[in-house]
Amino acid sequence: MEFIDLKQQYHRYQAAIDARVHQVLDHAHFIMGPEIAELETALARYVGVKHAITVASGTDSLEIALRALGVGPGDEVVTVAFTWISTAEVIGLVGAKPVFVDIEPATFNLNLDLLEAAITPRTKALLPVSLFGQMPDYDRLNAIAARHGLPVIEDGAQSFGATQRGRRSCGSR
Ligand SMILES: Cc1ncc(COP(=O)(O)O)c(C=O)c1O
Repeated sequence: MEFIDLKQQYHRYQAAIDARVHQVLDHAHFIMGPEIAELETALARYVGVKHAITVASGTDSLEIALRALGVGPGDEVVTVAFTWISTAEVIGLVGAKPVFVDIEPATFNLNLDLLEAAITPRTKALLPVSLFGQMPDYDRLNAIAARHGLPVIEDGAQSFGATQRGRRSCGSR
């Protein structure tokens, strides 16, 4: 048995996937083709937000979010010490400083008991990660963010499809 059997998942939806891939090859509208708008609409509806914007990778999405918020040199972004490297990498990439918060042992997610102590006057955003399909407690996290007037960027690369109190990961809160 394979540890991650991606072929099994593909085979389950093979006919539908193959048909859509062939459709794209057929119309050859590879850049901003009609499937993009269709996917963005479906993604937004699925997570319950107004807009979804597709980009090339999870790493790009984090960098774009930071740049959109104007995060740059001299700023700090509070994130979690245990994650995929992209989460911290993009903070450095835009010239800001990652400030790491330790995890809670049960979920491997950002320890909310330690979050507030990591926030300083230079903090420009919070970048929690929903790791292994588990989300940190966003009611609590967002309350802390609101108290400090900070935007929250959820790294949902591993949690798309997860729900918490009826709300989807990557959805509005
Ligand atoms: C938690 C997390 N954030 C970001 C990324 C980056 O996504 P991508 O590989 O699509 O750039 C990953 C990829 O595994 C991830 O696990």
